[in-house]
Amino acid sequence: MSESKAGGEPIVRLSSVTFQYDGKSVLEQIDFTLHKGDFCGIVGPNGSGKSTLLKLILGLLVPKQGTVELFGKPLSKFREWSKIGYVAQQAAHGTGGFPATVREVVLSGLTGKVGLFRWFTKEHKRHAEEVITRVGLGEKIDAHIGTLSGGQRQRVFIARALVAQPELLILDEPTVGVDQESIEQFYRLLRTLKDESGLTMMIVSHDVGVMSQWVNKVACLQQRLHFHGSSDEFARAEEQILKRMYGDSIRLLTHHH
Ligand SMILES: Nc1ncnc2c1ncn2[C@@H]1O[C@H](COP(=O)(O)OP(=O)(O)O)[C@@H](O)[C@H]1O
Ligand SMILES: [Mg+2]
Repeated sequence: MSESKAGGEPIVRLSSVTFQYDGKSVLEQIDFTLHKGDFCGIVGPNGSGKSTLLKLILGLLVPKQGTVELFGKPLSKFREWSKIGYVAQQAAHGTGGFPATVREVVLSGLTGKVGLFRWFTKEHKRHAEEVITRVGLGEKIDAHIGTLSGGQRQRVFIARALVAQPELLILDEPTVGVDQESIEQFYRLLRTLKDESGLTMMIVSHDVGVMSQWVNKVACLQQRLHFHGSSDEFARAEEQILKRMYGDSIRLLTHHH
């Protein structure tokens, strides 16, 4: 699916980015651009540097070489972090015993905007309710998140990221532990968000087969960027690209439905 609206302003731009952990090279010479309105899927084997790439974009890590620009500004000058929503890898796991309701978790996504010890206004609360309804959890608004399914909990964390009204949403493996049917629903939700509010998105995911149906851009990462283009181009070259990256384990990773 790619009515690629090329030509939007660059939201993320990496130029010749290289990164190492303790001298061990993880990313090399990454040139990557994400334009306004893009929905980009990032694929690559375990340990290929996907989460590291996202952390470089989020300013949580600093490149050894090269530059990162956000919304047209070099990372060192960028301050508008509330423009960026981030759902970390495994956000939906290990929160079973966390004593908070859907409403509370989603409202906590506003602390960056409101300030930690200030009161939420009526307007904030109404907006949180709206977002919770939007992700399809209206009936669960006062449920404890420990009682929700993996797929529902994942939507709580999406709502938590969305409540601050980001312009860029970054999702690291949000579909791990979510059943096949909920995964489809999940992508449908992301697509609706993109179409309705012009949200720009990056998603790391293992389910290449499903994901590539919903995104308009694909980036294939394994230390280097092996492919970066439209989902149509990706579909045409998918087999060769994935074979080059995954070798023979490719069959385990694609179209397993
Ligand atoms: N904090 C860290 N310190 C040292 N090495 C790390 C750290 N985080 C990740 N790595 C290593 O960097 C490589 C890339 O990791 P990561 O970006 O998490 O890959 P992916 O998300 O694609 O699975 C892996 O070899 C991983 O073991
Ligand atoms: Mg990762």
